Amino acid sequence: MSRVLMCPPDHYALRYEINAWMHLDNQPDLSLAAVQWQTLFSHVQKLAQVELLSPAPECPDMVFTANAGLLVSERAVLLSRFRHPERQPEEPHFRRWFEEHGFTVYLMPPDCAFEGEGDILYAGERYLAGYRRRTEICAHRIASEYLGHEVLSLELVSDRWYHLDTALFVLDGRTVVYYPGAFDTYANRVIDEHFDALHVVEEEALRFACNSVVIGNTVLMPEGCPLITNLLERRGYEVVSIPMSEFIKSGGACKCLVMFLER
Ligand code: ARG
Repeated sequence: MSRVLMCPPDHYALRYEINAWMHLDNQPDLSLAAVQWQTLFSHVQKLAQVELLSPAPECPDMVFTANAGLLVSERAVLLSRFRHPERQPEEPHFRRWFEEHGFTVYLMPPDCAFEGEGDILYAGERYLAGYRRRTEICAHRIASEYLGHEVLSLELVSDRWYHLDTALFVLDGRTVVYYPGAFDTYANRVIDEHFDALHVVEEEALRFACNSVVIGNTVLMPEGCPLITNLLERRGYEVVSIPMSEFIKSGGACKCLVMFLER
């Protein structure tokens, strides 16, 4: 059974603007956000062992645990080093949780921004990594050394698709689902050459179709994405569609709310 980390949305809020989705005048409905988080949580719980991290009042984005760090070996994580000062207060909370739960914690050098599983995804024999908007490319080489695997660097070209997991998810070691418009031409070619790739249309990418959690044969996907759902169902996947509107206002959805603690 997979094991994942989530953080309840008790202190979730929109208090600053650090990506193209966040607008202080478009506030999330926090009670609806709590319901949406619970719905995701209850589905994840059927498929994986869920560890819960206590939220900190001064960290409104801590709910997005994909940005806590990256699992680099069975019991070791590479901790995130957030690009924006607004999210840096989360680092000691994540670090403490990992240490208290028996993980060795590795740190990035101070000048190298890295946002964890938000920007580096496991894809079978190798990893895929995004850079330019949040994680810097220097982090890819360092992560690759800890991982002991090849890391394919993919340039993210738009402020809307600022983390790799907003624009791509891995179905299995050979297949990825992604939105081509988020990447430069070279990255598109790299993806298409290494993987069997399913393309997401812009309309569904804007509903965060690519921010899906895959556990076994199940894909937990933000609602409103019938085209890609259809393609996945034809390949034998069960797609569960989950309302995520209140997290999308902060630039996140299903996958951002989950970090994998096991491969
Ligand atoms: N508001 C958060 C930020 O801008 C959202 C993070 C989403 N996380 C993710 N893995 N894509 O940092």
